[in-house]
Amino acid sequence: MTTEPSNPRIEVEHVKKRFGTVEALSDVSLTLEDNEVLGLVGDNGAGKSTFIKTLVGIHQPDEGEIRFNGEPVTIDGPKHARTLGIGTVYQDLALVDELSVAENLFLGRMPVKKLGGVVSVVDKEYMKQEAERILSEHLNIHVDPDTPVEYLSGGERQAVAIGRALVTDPDIVLLDEPTSALSKAAVEHVEELVKQLRASGHSVILIDHNLEEVLSMTDRVAVLFQGRVVDVVDAESVTRDDVVSMMVSGRSAHEDGDDEPLGRQSDATSSSSSTA
Ligand SMILES: Nc1ncnc2c1ncn2[C@@H]1O[C@H](COP(=O)(O)OP(=O)(O)O)[C@@H](O)[C@H]1O
Ligand SMILES: [Mg+2]
Repeated sequence: MTTEPSNPRIEVEHVKKRFGTVEALSDVSLTLEDNEVLGLVGDNGAGKSTFIKTLVGIHQPDEGEIRFNGEPVTIDGPKHARTLGIGTVYQDLALVDELSVAENLFLGRMPVKKLGGVVSVVDKEYMKQEAERILSEHLNIHVDPDTPVEYLSGGERQAVAIGRALVTDPDIVLLDEPTSALSKAAVEHVEELVKQLRASGHSVILIDHNLEEVLSMTDRVAVLFQGRVVDVVDAESVTRDDVVSMMVSGRSAHEDGDDEPLGRQSDATSSSSSTA
């Protein structure tokens, strides 16, 4: 079905973010529709991670607006983002090596139970069961939840980082290079997961260097270049070469004479691709 998108979960309008003299995001307008997988690609330093971190309040935009389910929001930080139903896998995994798989999954939000109705203690049994369930159900990874994560393989660590984003049962999932350190087999788990997330009604933003992966997993792809959006294209109708060319030139592959503005509004730009 190609009904026009009408129910955006996240709308980012004219967002700027500077770090000193570096303009990491110059004028970014992007929309995450309900139940879509949006790819975000661009060269190193294009601003992809900054975009994700701005969405979850690690960075505050210098200018511009973020709307969540149509309402303007100021997101205070990752905790606030989680309460809005956003789960995030950061590029820098941020796992604590000495802590177990289960502890890493629940870091900062350990479930508690009352002993004798009075004393609150961490519910370790529940944590372990949930950790096992989340990793096996969503990622088909089977590890002992008591194992310190320092003993895990790259793929297993990545799975723990992803599992951590899923603990709060978010309906929006942001994945910043979730497959970068993975073996082929582990990449397949992530592909499966993204499929599963879409099938179960989630909305996903996926950052990934592997363009084949991006094109096969996403509905639309946003190309970033030096902090601005070059174009947002339909993953089915764009070629890998076109994406590469946009990533390196900073120019849209569809710029044939007509002066399309780079920071885009929602429609009007690429209606040619919507009726396949
Ligand atoms: N916390 C920060 N402080 C200063 N500069 C930063 C910070 N985070 C990112 N940058 C800079 O912003 C630009 C975009 O970085 P980033 O968003 O990490 O790019 P990408 O994820 O696309 O590789 C880069 O020039 C980077 O050096
Ligand atoms: Mg990055």
